Amino acid sequence: MAEPLLSRTPVPFLVGGRWETGTLPPHELQSFTGTLPHPLVAMEKKDGSWEVARPGTDHLQSALDAIAKGQEILSHLPPYRRRAILEETARGIEENRTSLAHLITAEVGKPSSAALFEVDRAIATFRVAADLSTTTGHHFQPGNLVPQGTGMVGLVERVSAGPVLAITPYNFPLNLLAHKVAPAIATGSALVVKPAPRGMTTALVLGEILLAAGMPPEALSILPCDLPDTQRLIDHPALPVISFTGSATVGWQIRDRVPRKKVLLELGGAAAVMILEDGMTGDLPDRLIAGAFAYSGQVCISIQRILVARPLLEPLCALLREKTEALERDGKIGRPDSPRTLVAPLITRSHADNVRRKVEEAIASGAKPLTALRQEGALLYPVFLKGTGADWPIEQEEVFGPVATINPFDTPEEAIERINRSRYGIQAGIFTREIDRAFGWARAIDAGGVLINEIPTFRLDHWPYGGIKESGSGFEGIAYAMEEMSRPRLLAFRLPAGS
Ligand code: SIN
Repeated sequence: MAEPLLSRTPVPFLVGGRWETGTLPPHELQSFTGTLPHPLVAMEKKDGSWEVARPGTDHLQSALDAIAKGQEILSHLPPYRRRAILEETARGIEENRTSLAHLITAEVGKPSSAALFEVDRAIATFRVAADLSTTTGHHFQPGNLVPQGTGMVGLVERVSAGPVLAITPYNFPLNLLAHKVAPAIATGSALVVKPAPRGMTTALVLGEILLAAGMPPEALSILPCDLPDTQRLIDHPALPVISFTGSATVGWQIRDRVPRKKVLLELGGAAAVMILEDGMTGDLPDRLIAGAFAYSGQVCISIQRILVARPLLEPLCALLREKTEALERDGKIGRPDSPRTLVAPLITRSHADNVRRKVEEAIASGAKPLTALRQEGALLYPVFLKGTGADWPIEQEEVFGPVATINPFDTPEEAIERINRSRYGIQAGIFTREIDRAFGWARAIDAGGVLINEIPTFRLDHWPYGGIKESGSGFEGIAYAMEEMSRPRLLAFRLPAGS
């Protein structure tokens, strides 16, 4: 596409590699209009808003018609060619690093330093996928591990489990999409992407980069469609694999709707961290603040619950209060386009209102905020709440805001019991110097991952990442997602007698 995507009004969507703005009569052409969370200057659209065209039913059909051909082409590309697409995509993202970060900031209000970090992570995600695309997936299996297998050898290939429907959230519009697109390409799986309404422009720009990197056009559609059309995609037999990241309610509805499909779910959390008496370090309060408040807590593994050995409670609360107050003085709360900002407005005013109401309910039930609860439009000032109950909504529901509870424990077992009382379980953290006992505690925690002497918000993109209980089903982290998106295919040989 010669003309840059973002200079077009409305921004087109992608159907089997073709850019479309709609073939319906104008009065039927619907569009999404995004108003940026902030009037950012130096953006492509100076008035702070832009339109993305919305696909109609015929576009959906064209995307579904294209996908079988796309799957045929991509699944037959030799690994070195898939690797080249992945490497070239990483290079394309790197070349557009700053403008992609600006776009993420503008579209989803992510503070600019966090947006740049997200872009860097996406580059790494594609590079890791490039490596794995040529180094994994096939192995030799001797038959003679059992007597009846004597004279047999097996070759096990991993082949695509079929085209993928990727449904992505707003909070990491680039890297969480990369976590679906990169393993899909590595396994030879074509994709239809349904991005979040906020985040769709970033997804479309990634689409532009992917096509330029050599992605077979038929193998990629990016459709910012509405709920009924998304349901059509979910139900459609041409898309046997669904990879969804988003809320637990929606995720489990998808799973129940299509029980025969392979459904990978990355859902909500209420991440906890336990701090033993010997686990306190000089930088711990800053790390807790970053883990609880970065991007205003709109991260599935944002710290929501802090459990601390009783003697540390008051000293730690004093430090957290002081450092939370300092955030405003140090210019770390406010506009997402400032490089210093840690806490920016939430994605929408109504989300900020919901989070504030949850905090108010907790305060009405007896919780003590360490700093004043304040809201200005979509901006909610960060707050730690002391003295909440383990079964209160503020601990049990995913808050997805700049809020964390802090409570004491008397024994590690009591802390673990409280951590496990959640219906969620993605990641948890333990701070202690007792490394030998820490492994035992970590194993007793019900979560996809436990980090020792690190906050649960820490993630490396090549590590397994996923939730148990209501937090999801299946794992991402490139190699793990490749496993989910592929299946083994056995080729067995009977060798000539005597060989
Ligand atoms: C998420 O919110 O699930 C993603 C967190 C991350 O990738 O750091």
